[in-house]
Amino acid sequence: GAPVEVDIGAVNLGEKITVEWRGKPVWVMKRTPEQLASLAYTQEQVADPMSQRTAYPTPKYAQNQHRSIKRGVFVAVGICTHLGCSPTDKLQPGPQPSLPDDWQGGFLCPCHGSTFDLAGRVFRNKPAPDNLEVPPHMYLSESRVLIG
Ligand code: FES
Repeated sequence: GAPVEVDIGAVNLGEKITVEWRGKPVWVMKRTPEQLASLAYTQEQVADPMSQRTAYPTPKYAQNQHRSIKRGVFVAVGICTHLGCSPTDKLQPGPQPSLPDDWQGGFLCPCHGSTFDLAGRVFRNKPAPDNLEVPPHMYLSESRVLIG
């Protein structure tokens, strides 16, 4: 499939858009400072904090706590790495059923309950074998991302 160019200039902080790349939904999310701060916290709770697993290899430039090139912009394939369901947004912080009491917001797969933080890192002891896939991407300018 051809690379897809996305203009993120109009995406607000805290918002996530979905584009299609190779038939897959790709999320592009602008994270707030508070959402980014939560990643230091979930660092202790996720199975593979620096994305060393290889089921869905993370590009080198995203093998970091925020799993992205720019700290504020998260790009990921919105498909659960377990059996391919679509995780939903659970962006509200605070206690929620079947989520950690200190949940800071993230994504929940409705099929078998895998939870992911705001960098797509899977929490420990969940069925998903890997973090959400980060597709190859690069910035063409401040507001244009090329996916693929
Ligand atoms: Fe997502 Fe099973 S498909 S937890």
